[in-house]
Amino acid sequence: MMFDLKASFNFSSDVSLIKNELDTFIADFNKKILLKDKTFNIKNVKIDKSNLSFNIISEGVFRPHNALLQMKNEISRNFGKKNYLGIREINIHNYSINFDLEKKPLKKVTIPFADITFKDKHATLILKNIDKEFLQHNYIDRMISRIREKVANHYYEGKSEFWKPIWESEEKKPIWTKDPTEEMARLGWLQQGPTKGKWFYRSQATTIIKTMEKIAIEEILKPLGFKEIISSHIVPFEIWLKTGHMEGMPGEFYYIAEPSTRDKEKWERFVDLTKITKEIQQDELKKNLATPTSGLCYAQCPVIYWSFKGKTISEESLPVLVYDNTAISSRYESGGRHGIERVDEFHRIEPIYIGTSKQLINLRDKMLECYKHVFNDIFDLEWRMAQVTPWYIQQAGEIGDENTQDTGTIDFEAYMPYRGDRKKSEWLEFQNLSILGDKYIKAFNIKAQKSALWSGCSGIGLERWTTAFLAQKGLDPEHWPKGFRKYLDKLPDGIEFL
Ligand code: SER
Ligand code: ZN
Repeated sequence: MMFDLKASFNFSSDVSLIKNELDTFIADFNKKILLKDKTFNIKNVKIDKSNLSFNIISEGVFRPHNALLQMKNEISRNFGKKNYLGIREINIHNYSINFDLEKKPLKKVTIPFADITFKDKHATLILKNIDKEFLQHNYIDRMISRIREKVANHYYEGKSEFWKPIWESEEKKPIWTKDPTEEMARLGWLQQGPTKGKWFYRSQATTIIKTMEKIAIEEILKPLGFKEIISSHIVPFEIWLKTGHMEGMPGEFYYIAEPSTRDKEKWERFVDLTKITKEIQQDELKKNLATPTSGLCYAQCPVIYWSFKGKTISEESLPVLVYDNTAISSRYESGGRHGIERVDEFHRIEPIYIGTSKQLINLRDKMLECYKHVFNDIFDLEWRMAQVTPWYIQQAGEIGDENTQDTGTIDFEAYMPYRGDRKKSEWLEFQNLSILGDKYIKAFNIKAQKSALWSGCSGIGLERWTTAFLAQKGLDPEHWPKGFRKYLDKLPDGIEFL
């Protein structure tokens, strides 16, 4: 890397009289930094009345912008009292940064705050009109990382996701090959909700979903000692900044707009217009809405981690085993919506676990046993497990193809007969289980008395369980497996519509 920063200091009075002293000071400062960075060089030093201009060059071990701020402080300290001088202004005229990438970009790359050009693998970044605040925040290094990330992404696009099968059940003969959502809609068990990607479940569909919930609690969560908590499903942006969702998923949130006021007078015109026109006057409404600072739950775990933020957990409380079964998740699915399996609003139980690595690896094995018991003995499903890109990498918009045995995400996938041949069709991800190492432990500064902590979570999507089961086993309880019929063997009567 090669950094070249052209800057000047504007002093409160003429400094040409102390030119020699300043030159010596700068030469000494240069020597001092050279001890840390052999490539560091301050050159083109010019003094013109109250203006001192120079270039700071380095290959980047010691960043010129950090040197600039340090130099400013030291000059102020050294000359301030002695010569009654102050630096009024720092001007950055030009900052160019040259660096090599691993591979050349495959298409145009842009970055805020700078112009960027490429010559094969070589990138030149030119920053202009930047101020001290900009330098103080770690923006420049983050800009360089972001460019590297963008170019690396060019080589990943179109590549298939990391996916490594680890277990599969035997083949099971499906009862039917219809799309369960379509059939349930035809029978009136559910209907499309009032807005896209939402469903209204009538008693028959609700009973099945509630049975899934009961099985998850009775067969998995209770036996393993998980305790229920009630979280909030409104997530402030600060939480998503910590988990990475804000960078990875900004196009998939449902944003929340709070009213900017409750003042009746301020709302009066909106009410008048509504009464008169019987329509929503959006422009008038917008006047009383605040800009969003939060969104609807995307996954439950971020708010659960937040609840442990900055806390020290006693060794006796480890592992912490909790689950949320209240917050409803919302994701703006756009093109991908289908049936009740790919929706904008869904119901999920999310167990999360915090403990030592040993405790969590042990827990994962026990959870896998319970999950296997449910999917094999109760649902009698045809399903498989695969190691996939950890969800937190994917949800932070990053690319990952690495997964170790101890941390990472396992996806549970079910064969969906209505989609065609079991070998060629896409199976449905109906569940996942992750151990995430200390990623969120660090992000939320969670501690134990002695032990190093890890965490993880598992998403039990009730609509996904339901649709995986029904796609293979049909809608007639007579044909459902015995294990499931112990939980539900008769559906409630529906409402007859004329
Ligand atoms: N947090 C995990 C996910 O989003 C489990 O719900 O998939
Ligand atoms: Zn989670």
